[in-house]
Amino acid sequence: MTAALPHHIEAASPHVMNTYGRLPIALSHGQGCRVWDVNGKCYLDALGGIAVNTLGHNHPQLVPALQDQISKLIHCSNYYHVPLQETLAAKLVELSGLENVFFCSTGLEANEAALKLARKYGHDKGIERPEVVVYEKAFHGRSIATLSATGNAKVQAGFGPLVEGFIRVPLNDIEAIKKATAGNPNVTAVFFEAIQGEGGVHPMDDQYMRDIRKLCDERDWLLMIDEVQCGMGRTGKWFAHQWSGIKPDVMPLAKGLGSGVPIGAVVCGPKAAQIFKVGNHGTTFGGNPLAMRAGVETIRIMEDDNIIANAITTGEHLRAALERDLSGLAGVVNIRGRGLMLGIELALPCGELLKQAADEGLLISVTADCVIRLVPPLIMTTAEADQVVAILVPLIQQFLHDKTPGKSVPVASPINE
Ligand SMILES: Cc1ncc(COP(=O)(O)O)c(C=O)c1O
Repeated sequence: MTAALPHHIEAASPHVMNTYGRLPIALSHGQGCRVWDVNGKCYLDALGGIAVNTLGHNHPQLVPALQDQISKLIHCSNYYHVPLQETLAAKLVELSGLENVFFCSTGLEANEAALKLARKYGHDKGIERPEVVVYEKAFHGRSIATLSATGNAKVQAGFGPLVEGFIRVPLNDIEAIKKATAGNPNVTAVFFEAIQGEGGVHPMDDQYMRDIRKLCDERDWLLMIDEVQCGMGRTGKWFAHQWSGIKPDVMPLAKGLGSGVPIGAVVCGPKAAQIFKVGNHGTTFGGNPLAMRAGVETIRIMEDDNIIANAITTGEHLRAALERDLSGLAGVVNIRGRGLMLGIELALPCGELLKQAADEGLLISVTADCVIRLVPPLIMTTAEADQVVAILVPLIQQFLHDKTPGKSVPVASPINE
């Protein structure tokens, strides 16, 4: 193709299957926490490819490392040893305190592996029809098994029959899970996100996680924590469950682990590390040298540059500013989350803010209809966080003002970027 980049982007890509509701924007390149579209418009990136671009865009150390790897070996089969798999696995074991790792390429694949582990764990104990406890509002992916584990009727609609063997319970209610599993000998695992992402940024309480750990120990169940979105430093710890002081038996990872290069991993503790034997599981792309190098370099840079401390500092700064400007405002239900995984719940569906924010030069997400989700690169500075607030707050104020006639919602003066 020799034609110059189009000046006006078509709002449709007729040959691409129409599975996403997209904004009429095509991004062309990025630098740090900024991205530019093909028409040259600049955006502040508070979405990070939905919690993927840990190190932002065009990172000065990550890019040369990936270029070096591409020139050496992008992919080879798992017929052979891949030394970078061992390097990354050893690092993940060190950071998690767990024992070994299976590599794949996406979040749903990591969760599929976790669900297979839960089933085989049961079968190895003589349980013929293993069941897994899952949660309301959960999101674990869009394969048939992971959408069955997902607690969202919209994700499941049209794809029945769902995979059986799930027991669904509400969040943060220890009595509810005890009741739902009472007398059931088929339960083999409990599976949840430490902070639900797609479901609307709903954290599991630290005490609840400790209570579940205890319950799993007492009943010999696997505790499986989906850290696909909330893991890899996002909340200010390597893994979000670490705030509670517990360790899971199985921990799926993906998204931020490769800073944009597709990668997934299932990190297992002693109870789960030996369940899979040769031939029980595998995937062509899993653990390929390019993805492994991305994971190794992402973690190395995070450690060298103290990115986790930055996630705490910038996250607290961002949250404080949002609370200062939005708390108490009619129509703002709640601001929640940890580190750089924050949700602002409004009292009404606010999907239109996605486009309005983009028009103002800010990339965000709206999930669970009413929750504005901020999951920016973990390199975001406090000054950039201030810019996020300066764009977002007036939009929210105006939105609530327009949608709630008769209520006096203050509107800030317009922003000049
Ligand atoms: C917690 C969680 N688990 C699993 C997934 C699925 O990951 P993927 O889209 O890479 O399949 C997601 C994606 O948003 C997620 O947030």
